Amino acid sequence: MATTPFTLPPAPSALRLETPRLVLRLLEEADIPAMTAYRGDPEVCRFLPFDPQSADDIRGRIGHLLGSTALDGERGGVALAVVRAADDVLIGDLVLFHLDADSGTAELGWVTHPAARGHGLATEAVTALIDAAFEVYGLRRLVARIDGDNTASRALAARVGMREEAHLIQASWFNGRWADEVDTAILADEWRARRAGATAGVRPPAGRLD
Ligand SMILES: CC(C)(COP(=O)(O)OP(=O)(O)OC[C@H]1O[C@@H](n2cnc3c(N)ncnc32)[C@H](O)[C@@H]1OP(=O)(O)O)[C@@H](O)C(=O)NCCC(=O)NCCS
Repeated sequence: MATTPFTLPPAPSALRLETPRLVLRLLEEADIPAMTAYRGDPEVCRFLPFDPQSADDIRGRIGHLLGSTALDGERGGVALAVVRAADDVLIGDLVLFHLDADSGTAELGWVTHPAARGHGLATEAVTALIDAAFEVYGLRRLVARIDGDNTASRALAARVGMREEAHLIQASWFNGRWADEVDTAILADEWRARRAGATAGVRPPAGRLD
């Protein structure tokens, strides 16, 4: 295949992002017990591609990402702990993974503890990760693949400006039914224009960046 104009810059040596209410830092082994409080909850996992997880399940699934800033490579990906700045409590985690190095595209994943929902914290965390994906990792396109019935996730994607580009009807058998998949995406240029608009006081058409 011909090479494309996209080149992945070198991965940063460290990654720590701060928002008004949150700190996003690389996940570490010591976070795993706290992650079972939400990743072990069947309701949280209803639309996630795994059953409720024990600490060992979490280690098995994302243990190879702990402490890593590298997106490329066969098992590359970046897993971040979402920590409330006020009390240092872990309220969720994010992942940036599945790099397509030809198109400069990677996928986002997000999950928060049910007790932390409804305050825009996931929006704040995902906004920071999108910023890093474009400005630190130099990507040109981000996607999130969402179960059609996952209204909270679809709303989150819309809030951060991710466009619904495809709605695949009954695309896969998932949790006892033929599930729709909604593919959402945003380009780096669109993100920058959106940020510039927000800074200038122009309300973006969907979502909030405050
Ligand atoms: C998807 C998920 C992270 C969304 O969580 P969430 O709490 O709905 O999202 P936010 O933290 O951004 O909060 C948004 C809510 O806070 C409100 N809010 C308050 N202040 C806000 C602010 N400053 N900015 C944005 N929203 C704000 C919003 O109006 C919204 O309320 P609503 O749900 O009544 O419409 C969560 O439902 C989850 O973890 N689900 C399980 C895992 C999962 O399915 N992951 C996705 C796989 S694709």
